[in-house]
This record gives sequence, structure tokens and C-alpha cells, in this order.
Amino acid sequence: MPKVPLYYYSSVSNLTGRFAEALSRLDGRDVFNLAHAPVRRTEVPGPWVLLTPSYKAGNANEVTLPAGVRSFLRSPMNRRRLIGIIGSGNRNFGVYYQAAARRLAARSGRPILFEFELAGTPEDVARCAEILAELDAALDEATA
Ligand SMILES: Cc1cc2nc3c(=O)[nH]c(=O)nc-3n(C[C@H](O)[C@H](O)[C@H](O)COP(=O)(O)O)c2cc1C
Repeated sequence: MPKVPLYYYSSVSNLTGRFAEALSRLDGRDVFNLAHAPVRRTEVPGPWVLLTPSYKAGNANEVTLPAGVRSFLRSPMNRRRLIGIIGSGNRNFGVYYQAAARRLAARSGRPILFEFELAGTPEDVARCAEILAELDAALDEATA
């Protein structure tokens, strides 16, 4: 059964990247880092899931979606094929916890599939892998 690819953004602290790599090791899913310009320049071949941290900008607009994610979503094809969002964040940010993932979900009408803090725990990775496997099965069913 095809596995829906995961595109993630991770900054130099690489907390989100550690989660994405652990997920890939666990279930063999393809993961792509939007911090890399060549990845950002591609168009997705089919349905995909976004994993994004939130970065509170501290400006009046309170932009929290990383620039690398925003640029990837400028492609109408990439926007259309986005089927779900996973958020990484830190509860210390209070009302801004998961702001980027939640705002994008509200704006795009795509569901939040899973949320975790920092690099996540091994239990978070396992639960997220299960949720994505259910999504793979649902997509497979839909296209059968
Ligand atoms: C400057 C800064 C702003 C942040 N703003 C938020 C925020 O608004 N909401 C949130 O949930 N987490 C926020 N975080 C926490 C990060 O989203 C979290 O640490 C994430 O795991 C970082 O992933 P990365 O290391 O892959 O970039 C912020 C972290 C930093 C350093």
C-alpha cells in the first residue's frame, strides 16, 4: 500500500526533524525537509501531509508559519494536494501553542491529524505512525 509522504520544516534546532526521521525509521515513510531549497522548489506528485512547528514572529501579524512552509504552499498544486496537518510546538507559548498548524488548518479546511511538543516522545512517534497508516488505508480505499 502506498504511504503518503510527509513534508516537514525544521529549523537548526532540528526538533521536528528528529521526530520526522524517527517516524521514517519506524514505518519507512518518505520524509522531505522543506528547510532545503531544492525540496521547496518541487511540486508534490500526489496527496501529502505537512508537519510544521510554530514560530511566533513577535510582530503585529503574529505570523507563526515558517517561511519555508509558506513558500512551498505558494504552489496551487501543493495547496490542492495537501490532505492533513501535523503540528509541533511548545506549550510554554500558551495561546500560541500550535498556532501555525491550527491557523493553516482553519484557513485550508484540512484536518489536524496529530500534535506533539518539541521532538515528541517514542509514544508520540508510534501514535502518529498509526494515524498515518489509517490515512494510507483510507486513501487506498478511495482510489481502489
Ligand atoms: C522563537 C521561537 C518561537 C516559537 N513560537 C512558538 C509558538 O508560537 N507556538 C508553539 O507552539 N511553539 C513555538 N515555539 C516552539 C517550537 O515550535 C518548537 O520548539 C519546535 O519543536 C521547534 O521545531 P524545530 O526545532 O524543528 O524548528 C517557538 C520556538 C522558538 C525558538
